[in-house]
Amino acid sequence: MLRRMKTLTLQDGTAFPAFGLGTWKPQGDDVYRAVRAALACGYRHVDCAAIYGNEDVIGRALTDAFAAGDVQRDDVWITSKLWNTEHAPERVRPAIEKTLRELRLDRLDLYLVHWPVPLRPGILRPEKPEDFVDPAEQTLDSTWAAMIPLRDAGLTRQIGVSNFSPAKLERVSEATGVAPAVNQVEMHPYLAQHELLAAASAMGTVLTAYSPLGTPDSGEMFGRTDPFKLLDDEVVAGVGATHDASPAQVLIAWALQRGTAVIPKSTNEGRIRENLAAAELELTTDDMTALAALDRGFRYIDGGFWCPEGSPHTTASLWDE
Ligand code: A2P
Repeated sequence: MLRRMKTLTLQDGTAFPAFGLGTWKPQGDDVYRAVRAALACGYRHVDCAAIYGNEDVIGRALTDAFAAGDVQRDDVWITSKLWNTEHAPERVRPAIEKTLRELRLDRLDLYLVHWPVPLRPGILRPEKPEDFVDPAEQTLDSTWAAMIPLRDAGLTRQIGVSNFSPAKLERVSEATGVAPAVNQVEMHPYLAQHELLAAASAMGTVLTAYSPLGTPDSGEMFGRTDPFKLLDDEVVAGVGATHDASPAQVLIAWALQRGTAVIPKSTNEGRIRENLAAAELELTTDDMTALAALDRGFRYIDGGFWCPEGSPHTTASLWDE
């Protein structure tokens, strides 16, 4: 029997389920079955995004799960994200309304600004300077300001951001007086993000760790050859061996133990269960020390795809590093 699902407390006291299912990439039956299997075995948080192109299928899976009595709407946390082409304030509300239609929900639990990178409507992958909206003209502050009324109108319970550096978090908070409830970022032992974690917690912003397993399935898509593979790391495997746990379970437990949320993705029913069971794993102080030594500031998703020649962004300006 699982212990009660671990939750994190957001700034207004809301309980945020710390463990969820990621849904980036799988489509059609794969994502349908993954969401149904996850909800049936005890997941209570599903992380979605408009750009993943699968919200309509996830909407069907949610509707069917509610009808089958696997879970009730109020017992599952649903996150989605505003895509880069929708940053203009007048496009923000129509964007969440489209997501709500596709997910077949009347409100989200959390809506995030997906990337601090405004793009021209219709652009999928920017290749030239004209594909970008000038970030000095279309500011993050005005996009963030347009998120606030969505919460006030009850279209989402919470609002937040994703891929924001400490400086960008502070900037939108100071501009509007509203700190993002959540910042969802890449985070794992190779990218421990100590500075961001400290800055976010000082502002009352909770972090969600994406790509917690080192996103082994996105390398090909981005033409990336990863020099380090988290799931093959000997230290991670060694920690797992002492607990009879898999490397993936160690990585998930690490994120939970640092007080962050974590959203590993899988379309395999056995691994969906295996990942949930990681919430039961308690790492020792020695384990956490061994894992802390792996930090090398290494990003699998470095945002280089936002930085073609002539882009207003560089990876340094993106992460403010
Ligand atoms: P699969 O869907 O076949 O399980 P991340 O969450 O870091 O993006 O990683 C997702 C990738 O990790 C997917 O390719 C997924 O494959 C794989 N994965 C998910 N859970 C596990 C696990 N417990 N052990 C090994 N690989 C896993």
